Amino acid sequence: MNDHRWWQDGIIYQVYPRSFLDSNQDGIGDLPGITARLDYLAGLGIDAIWLSPFYPTPDADFGYDISDHTQVDARFGTLQDFDELLQQAHTRGIRLVLDLVLNHTSDQHAWFKESRSSLRNPKRDWYMWRDEKNNWQSEPGGSAWTYDAATRQYYYHSYLPEQPDVNWRNPEVREAQLGVVKFWLERGVDGFRLDVFNVCFKDAEFKNNPTKFGLRKFDQQEHLYDADQPEMIPLLNDLRTLLDKYPNTYAVGETFLPTTEKSAKFVGMDRLHAAFSFDFSVKNLIYPWKPDWLLKRILHRERIFEGELWPTTVMSNHDVRRAASRYSHAEDDAQARLAMTILLTLRGTPFIYYGEEIGMRDLKLKRDQIMDPPGKRYWPLFKGRDGCRGPMQWDDSTLAGYSSVQPWLPVHPDHITRNISMQEKDPESMLNLTRKLIALRRQYPALQKGSFTALAGNSRQVLAYLRTFEKQNILVAMNFSGRKARITLEAEHTRRNWRTLHPGTNIETFMTDHLELPAHGISIWVAED
Ligand code: GLC
Ligand code: CA
Repeated sequence: MNDHRWWQDGIIYQVYPRSFLDSNQDGIGDLPGITARLDYLAGLGIDAIWLSPFYPTPDADFGYDISDHTQVDARFGTLQDFDELLQQAHTRGIRLVLDLVLNHTSDQHAWFKESRSSLRNPKRDWYMWRDEKNNWQSEPGGSAWTYDAATRQYYYHSYLPEQPDVNWRNPEVREAQLGVVKFWLERGVDGFRLDVFNVCFKDAEFKNNPTKFGLRKFDQQEHLYDADQPEMIPLLNDLRTLLDKYPNTYAVGETFLPTTEKSAKFVGMDRLHAAFSFDFSVKNLIYPWKPDWLLKRILHRERIFEGELWPTTVMSNHDVRRAASRYSHAEDDAQARLAMTILLTLRGTPFIYYGEEIGMRDLKLKRDQIMDPPGKRYWPLFKGRDGCRGPMQWDDSTLAGYSSVQPWLPVHPDHITRNISMQEKDPESMLNLTRKLIALRRQYPALQKGSFTALAGNSRQVLAYLRTFEKQNILVAMNFSGRKARITLEAEHTRRNWRTLHPGTNIETFMTDHLELPAHGISIWVAED
């Protein structure tokens, strides 16, 4: 337990480059913009940045359709800007984790252009071409096969037609893709977030998926043959061998169709360091936000990710409604604060999504403002993912200090009262709560590596748990309701010598056998005996 790695003890902050800071006033965030705000991130106390794609892209899926894996899109900067960002981050002790999309490329990628050019092109087999389609569906909707009139075959795409899947069964593809990984490792990056890694392999015979009940066509089949094929594990073994040649590197996989059990199977010494299990946030699903439900999820995850297996905690990312929008029905941040407290006090690597630290809310967009392809397709049933990708709210100026020209997505109107500059100055702000929680996590090993025990006082109103490492116990108690709450403690816990860590008052309350929590109260204590 003592040889914990940076990615176990640390906190990873996801930057969506397009929306962080526009340094050259073209309305699009860029790499120099991120470099310019590294001091802010260092001040927050994070350990690493996960950078969403900044590679050349025709923007069919806003960066997740890559047309060149080893370049920087001119709108985001240059390779030199990248090197500068990496170096400046390292100077501040911040590591850089890149987003790698290895399952598919853009249809504008040179490989695909060649592949589609003729049946006899040497790269024809780098993608999946068939005379006939089977019943497989693409995740954003529609058949996963698109007909190419010029060569009279269908090609396969798990996502949009502009995102053809590469053929991982072809050894040249494998070599080329691992070459991409090596390219960035050689440049000095600290790791990768692997986009939908577990769909890389498909059934060799393209068998039809069995059907089942579901809402969308994609959900009306069991994904037996288009994901999670056994060939994935040997590929992860190879990938890990490559990564291990570069000390202290890390890979976290984005599990496609995630379950906690499935994600855990991809983690281990010979596979990924971590895989998202999305226990509290999954695309297209709104989970209940209740202490008893959360506790069940946490305990389930604790059972599955045990021993060597290290979990990840995610409340928000660029694919889901922000936690603050999912759970806070009013303008107040009560629920967003609870979400942040859970994120930063559970066992597992916390991932903070940019703006989460100030409780940024999703944009409310009109139909003609939607850019995200699934949003265009399914409006108004599903409005797409643009809402959670709004420009970072740095200050209360017209464009939130993000740019001086109209940004690619509108600035949230609430930036006038919700922004970093104002929250810096307010000791009670969500930003300062986040900073404090990060600082506590760094200071107390029990929060980083301690075991998790639910307290007996849990209820439909209160979530309370202990984190324990050696002699150190941290008690976290949260009241989800707008009424006062009281939790009774087991005798073994009342005997301890508790000191308050947050909010920093009421030490006497604890000396008896119970703890009182005000409406939406968050209470954190430490005992070292
Ligand atoms: C992942 C990304 C998502 C993207 C998809 C296809 O789920 O997080 O944004 O659309 O992969 O690359
Ligand atoms: Ca720019």
